[in-house]
Amino acid sequence: HTKYRAFAPIGLKDRTWPDAVITRAPIWLSTDLRDGNQALVEPMDLERKMRMFETLVEIGFKEIEVGFPSASQTEFDFVRKLIEEDRIPDDVTIQVLTQAREHLIERTFESLQGAPRAIVHLYNAVAPVMRRVVLGLDEDGIVELAVTHAKMFKDQAARQPATQWTFQYSPEMFSGTDLAFSKRVVDAVTAVWAPTPERKCIVNLPSTVEHSTPNIFADMIEWMHRNLERRDAIVLCAHPHNDRGTGTAAAEFAVMAGADRLEGCLFGNGERTGNLDIVNVALNLYTQGVSPGLDFSHIDDIRATVEHCNQIPVHPRHPYVGDLVYTSFSGSHQDAIKKAFSARKDGDIWDIPYLPIDPKDVGRSYEAVIRVNSQSGKGGISYLLESEYGLELPRRLQIEFSQVVQQVMDVQGKELGAADLWNIFRDEYRMD
Ligand code: KIV
Ligand code: ZN
Repeated sequence: HTKYRAFAPIGLKDRTWPDAVITRAPIWLSTDLRDGNQALVEPMDLERKMRMFETLVEIGFKEIEVGFPSASQTEFDFVRKLIEEDRIPDDVTIQVLTQAREHLIERTFESLQGAPRAIVHLYNAVAPVMRRVVLGLDEDGIVELAVTHAKMFKDQAARQPATQWTFQYSPEMFSGTDLAFSKRVVDAVTAVWAPTPERKCIVNLPSTVEHSTPNIFADMIEWMHRNLERRDAIVLCAHPHNDRGTGTAAAEFAVMAGADRLEGCLFGNGERTGNLDIVNVALNLYTQGVSPGLDFSHIDDIRATVEHCNQIPVHPRHPYVGDLVYTSFSGSHQDAIKKAFSARKDGDIWDIPYLPIDPKDVGRSYEAVIRVNSQSGKGGISYLLESEYGLELPRRLQIEFSQVVQQVMDVQGKELGAADLWNIFRDEYRMD
């Protein structure tokens, strides 16, 4: 679409790789039902899980991590329900997570019996602190752990040949691990799985805890992208968390640095400060003229479902979706927006000051754009009277009436809607 302009930094336009701008959307993996769910005070029950799944399908996700089936009966039952009730559309692949432990892997494959397709996601920690404190293994021990369990994946999959399997491996705590060691573990796992360019496996690189600035994380992704042995047979995926509040930036840089795929959650749910916010990254792409391949044209409906499923409200200032983000309180902003709307013609590039996106594109309305409080000026007041009541005030009267409104607001100290303005106008000018 051509409504939005890509902002390529001057001087970097001709740089081809790593990319200075993102020119196409990554493959998206929603982990709302796994990483997001495991971080909820009250994890979703089957009803909420199904509602979330259906919403994710409607948005357009083709890969959805639906749970950790060996972790609880609800998680196991949900996977069974999806398969037995034939709820998975033909163009959608479910993904499930398991730790590198034999009985958990067996239970995971058991949950997937009868699935037409599935991504099975193996993880084990690789960082020194986890090796020392939790696993009690040296580097060789970690490689052996990963390889042994990668082999179990092959054995289990061979027992269910009717399913089309994709294997995924995550070196947990990648962001806190020496790169050469991460490469050694990943190469060892992919040597077992022997993926080909036609039948790739997925290598997922998490910032399990976001320790660094996003450019450092992206440099690490780029290093793996350049150095992994079977890169042409790997879908390289990034899984940023948001501990420093830079999950979105980390994800964008990771794609520029070579990641093909991103894992995240709607509105940034997930462990601690959350996973990367897929709504944010996708709509950032959209406002750069790149189709994200996900449909957020009814963002308020999606938000209502997600709030219901997660039982966590979305912040009023959340990019693209918060209650206040298509609102302008200050008079000068209101005035500029009003003038830009009047000057705008059909087919113009979107260029309205203070509004990075057309609210209509996410199903929000212009009515919500202008609000009037003690910070507002004549622009917002006359916009509301004109758009809601067809009352076009001459400029002198706009100035005069805004002073009247200001006095009322100084007394009341609260925001005024179009109906309040209309009543004040009628009282002031004695209209009946
Ligand atoms: O953040 C993380 O490391 C994870 C892995 C299990 C992929 O969620
Ligand atoms: Zn995670």
